[in-house]
Amino acid sequence: MENTFNSSHKIGAIGGSATDWRLASFDDLVDYIVNTHHDYLYNELPKIGDLTTKILRAHGLNHPELAKIHKLFHTLKLELEQHLIKEEQTLFPRIIDYEEDPSLDKLNELLKVIEELEAEDIGTGDFLKELSSVTKGYAIPGDVCSTFSLTYQKLKNLELDLLTHIQLENNVLFPRLKANNRRMEFETS
Ligand SMILES: [Fe+2]
Ligand SMILES: [Fe+2]
Repeated sequence: MENTFNSSHKIGAIGGSATDWRLASFDDLVDYIVNTHHDYLYNELPKIGDLTTKILRAHGLNHPELAKIHKLFHTLKLELEQHLIKEEQTLFPRIIDYEEDPSLDKLNELLKVIEELEAEDIGTGDFLKELSSVTKGYAIPGDVCSTFSLTYQKLKNLELDLLTHIQLENNVLFPRLKANNRRMEFETS
C-alpha cells in the first residue's frame, strides 16, 4: 500500500540500529515506523492469512488448534489493519503538523487519539498472548508439512515485529509527546 510517509531515502541514513529514537525528530520517527513496521504488516498479514487458511484445510482434522489459530489471527489482522490506518490518517499527520508548528491545542487533540490507540494495543497484546499459548510458543509438531512450519515461523516473526513496533510507539513516541504536553502546560500556566 502506498503511504504518504515516503521518505525511504531517509531510512537508510537514519534507520540503522544506532539511531536513538528518543532524540530523533518526530517526522523521522514516524517515517521509520510507517516504512518499517507498517509496511511489514501490510506485506505479511495477507500472506499469513492465506497460510492459516491453507493449513486449517490440510491439517485441521489432526490439529484442532488450527481452527482457533485461524480465527484468532484473522480477528487480529482486521483490528491491526484498522489501527494502522487510524495512525496514518488521524495521528501521524497531526504529529508532523504539531512538530512544524507547535501549539498546546494541537498537542491536546493528538493526545486524545493516542489514548484510543493505546487501548487498542492492549487488545493486540492479548491476541499475541493467546496465539502464543494456543501454538505452545510456536512449537512445530512432528507430523506436519513445510507450509505448517512456515506459518508458525511467520506467526512468531509477527509477534517479534509487533512487540518492537508497539514498544517504539508506546514507550518512545507517545511518552515524548506526553512530556512535551506537561512542559507546555507548565510554561503556559
Ligand atoms: Fe503503528
Ligand atoms: Fe500502534
